[in-house]
Amino acid sequence: MGAKYRAIVIGSEQLKDNLKKNLITLVDINENYNSYSEAYKGLKQKRPDMVFVELEDNKDACFDFIRYVKKRYGSTMIFLIGQNKDPDILLKGLRSGISDFIEFSSINGNLLSILKESIARFKNIEEKGEIISVFSIKGGQGVTTIATNLADHIYTLTEDNVVLLDLNFYMSDLSVFLNSMCEYSPFDLIKDLPRMDEELLFSSLTRHKRGFYFLSVPEEKVDLQDLSPEDVDDMLKVLKNYMDYIIVDLPHDFSERTISVIDKSDILLVLVQQSVPIIKSVEKLIFLFEEMGIKDKVRIVLNRYVESDEISHKDISSVLGQEIIYKIRNDYKTIISAINSGNLLNAIFPDKRVNKDIKNIAIDITNMFPVKKQKNIKDIITKFFIKRK
Ligand SMILES: Nc1ncnc2c1ncn2[C@@H]1O[C@H](COP(=O)(O)OP(=O)(O)O)[C@@H](O)[C@H]1O
Ligand SMILES: [Mg+2]
Repeated sequence: MGAKYRAIVIGSEQLKDNLKKNLITLVDINENYNSYSEAYKGLKQKRPDMVFVELEDNKDACFDFIRYVKKRYGSTMIFLIGQNKDPDILLKGLRSGISDFIEFSSINGNLLSILKESIARFKNIEEKGEIISVFSIKGGQGVTTIATNLADHIYTLTEDNVVLLDLNFYMSDLSVFLNSMCEYSPFDLIKDLPRMDEELLFSSLTRHKRGFYFLSVPEEKVDLQDLSPEDVDDMLKVLKNYMDYIIVDLPHDFSERTISVIDKSDILLVLVQQSVPIIKSVEKLIFLFEEMGIKDKVRIVLNRYVESDEISHKDISSVLGQEIIYKIRNDYKTIISAINSGNLLNAIFPDKRVNKDIKNIAIDITNMFPVKKQKNIKDIITKFFIKRK
């Protein structure tokens, strides 16, 4: 196990000692507070992972406090401790945001296993977001095209919280693709991190008219000193907490920052084209990913696919030793017309096959497959006879 969880107690010294003794292997408990105000200040300063709150006579004050803490520090687990699990108290507690209710009697009993279960449950809720990064070694291969349209399709299919994160700090062209400016940049998010919660995040993020959120660096704000790889890590953590999908438009570099995001991605879409130099460089890339131990999350996307090309997709997969998972056909006219008018493909060319190719990636990632109509035997027979008339 890694470092221990850090916790504070709101309640008696005796309760603190008792919790400390029973959770010694899992949790570090050093402070106890007897007033909510002192506890809140302590919490602000120490930022513990969990808070144990002893249920007091004035129950409403206790629930109000929990609600307050949860609103500001959503990632803190709160455990309420009381005599017995009265259903009414439990319900109020859960509504105010506790992770679990602990009976006094279980402190010297199975407390450790109760806590471990709660932590596992909490972790499942936390960091629910899936990171899908799009990458190519050189620019001009379609990363931004695919990332933007993928975000749009995933949102349309799920209406989940989807954010498009543009990490091209030097030369972002996202505002052109989306025909909208990002009012809240990664720099702003980093500045707000200490007080970030769900409400602040959703009220700050720029939302595109199609429904997904986007985070990008406005041209005038570029200052690379401002965002360290650690900053980007923290940003991803927050986004993973509140977003369902984070689609990353990765820069074409191997900076520490890019590698760190690749490492944290759940799916890494790597672009290839029917061109020998590109295939060769992707071959090297795959070797590198193998070395990094992350080959499993790589999905090769053959972009600008042309059926009749002398290099077939089978040739490419045999050179790469990797299957081509997705294909997006070549349709420059459609794509450039969408880009130049600042539109997403699905908004103006829903029926174009190139749009459907990207939609299929979104369907595969979200599992939102269309329901297949059961073929009726009568229909089949009718069709058969009509055809043969
Ligand atoms: N499937 C495709 N068919 C035709 N042209 C494409 C396709 N995908 C991308 N392009 C074109 O490639 C160019 C570069 O795309 P872009 O998304 O900006 O790449 P990157 O972000 O990798 O630099 C754009 O002009 C775009 O129109
Ligand atoms: Mg780009």
